[in-house]
Amino acid sequence: MLVRSLHADLTQIKTDVVIVNLFEGVTVPGGATGAVDRATGGMIRRLISLESFEGKLGEHLSFYTEKLGPQGASQITKVVVMGLGPKDEFDIDGVRRVAAASIKAARSTGAKRIATIVHGGGIGGLDPSQAAEALVEGALLGAYRFSRYKSESPQADDPEELILVENESSKLPALDAGIARGQIFAESTNWARDLVNTPPNDLSPAQLAEAARALGEEVGLSCTVLDAEEMRRLGMGGLLAIAQGSVNAPRLILLEYTPKQVDPSSKECLALVGKGVTFDSGGLSIKSADGMTAMKNDMAGAAAVLGAMRAIARIGAEVRVIGVIPAVENMPSGASYRPGDVLRTMSGKTIEVLNTDAEGRIILADAVSYALSQGATAVVDIATLTGACEIALGNVFTGLISNNDSFYQRFMEAAEQTGERFWRFPTHPEYKEQYKSDVADIKNVGGRSGGAITGGLIIGEFAGATPWIHLDIAATATRGKSHHYDPKGATGVGVRTLTQLATTLKSGSIEAFTAQP
Ligand code: BES
Ligand code: ZN
Ligand code: ZN
Repeated sequence: MLVRSLHADLTQIKTDVVIVNLFEGVTVPGGATGAVDRATGGMIRRLISLESFEGKLGEHLSFYTEKLGPQGASQITKVVVMGLGPKDEFDIDGVRRVAAASIKAARSTGAKRIATIVHGGGIGGLDPSQAAEALVEGALLGAYRFSRYKSESPQADDPEELILVENESSKLPALDAGIARGQIFAESTNWARDLVNTPPNDLSPAQLAEAARALGEEVGLSCTVLDAEEMRRLGMGGLLAIAQGSVNAPRLILLEYTPKQVDPSSKECLALVGKGVTFDSGGLSIKSADGMTAMKNDMAGAAAVLGAMRAIARIGAEVRVIGVIPAVENMPSGASYRPGDVLRTMSGKTIEVLNTDAEGRIILADAVSYALSQGATAVVDIATLTGACEIALGNVFTGLISNNDSFYQRFMEAAEQTGERFWRFPTHPEYKEQYKSDVADIKNVGGRSGGAITGGLIIGEFAGATPWIHLDIAATATRGKSHHYDPKGATGVGVRTLTQLATTLKSGSIEAFTAQP
């Protein structure tokens, strides 16, 4: 879908659909909605009372008219009036939701050209650039469908053009800047969604690495892929153990973004580390049939890192950013790692395996060590790590663990901008006692109680004192049914917040985290 701005009078342009809006309780529309109402002989006012339209967020009404468009064009235009809810509650995330709902309403009529006002940009009082960005994000995220494996693609009736119409010419540069950012954020999220939705027979670790390499070439990131032999040389006994049960060999993927104007004395480097289990059967501690059906999604952390790296390359950042992905398939076989095995990781720490289904923390242990060896001075890991996270937070918040308050605060500022929700777990040292081992430095499971916390803390053991954030997206990486601008299936959670974080870090801010934890 092409997205652009247009300096015009909404009532005078040629389109299939015109999208306007109303705050809750408004019966006499103003602004652009008022202009459309007057041009159509008061249709909006009439329908508000006929259909008892309240203007709640998500509610909409629509009608067809011949009274809009260029003089004498005699075209039929569909008008969609989107409810925005109460004016004092409307915010940037409301713009995303309304945009997603309106694109779906417009698409259902087979519209090719859609014109919209920028929700919240006028009477709503939101910053026009931010509102335009959120509108484009919501529209592109909301329009997402995955149909690569359908013989008949529903994508055929996708709209071709989304036009943001603004009659104040001074606002156009701000709109254009917002549109550009919104497109990058949404397209990178949709790119990640595609990868997560791809079935495991078409996405082995090698194929995931291939996707990363192609991405690197497309957006200009350097990409290095390690094979099992190189992992052995580096002593990655954790990653290799998980991989050994599968006929599909592992890969370790490194993507690197180097700032255009790099300060050569700066050692700052943000690492994004994503769990890339292309299929998680549980290994010898095999999952139930039901527990396994969604396990092609166990590389959603990897997809989020790749999607973010894509967006970071496009937007640019002040600090060096690396993406690290341990890619493996966790399978049962005669060659599998076993409960009872003791693994020696790259860090030198040993892990006793008590459950082969707790594989994510083991591969992330080696991946975090590798990130540090590549110069990372701050680390965010993102993983579909534990079923326990859904028990703790449901699918409304992603679980978060951090060893550094300043880094955590900086991350939450980024999340505030994107609308993605994160909730920090406590990390009292007492939790660490749960994963002490009799035979090794630690064991890979800390028991059922507080499972999301102990799982995350085990990864943190390998970050040491480096500022670190862990994101458990087990419950938020996919949805059972579509919700606002999330589709059914992969959500692409994390892409936007990781991008926002990386692209707003100033040179010097990572060093400041270390100085005052
Ligand atoms: N990939 C799973 C976690 C998961 C579960 C993600 C459900 C998405 C939905 C992970 O590797 C796993 O199996 N974790 C175990 C850990 C346990 C054995 C300590 C779990 O959550 O049961
Ligand atoms: Zn598992
Ligand atoms: Zn897993």
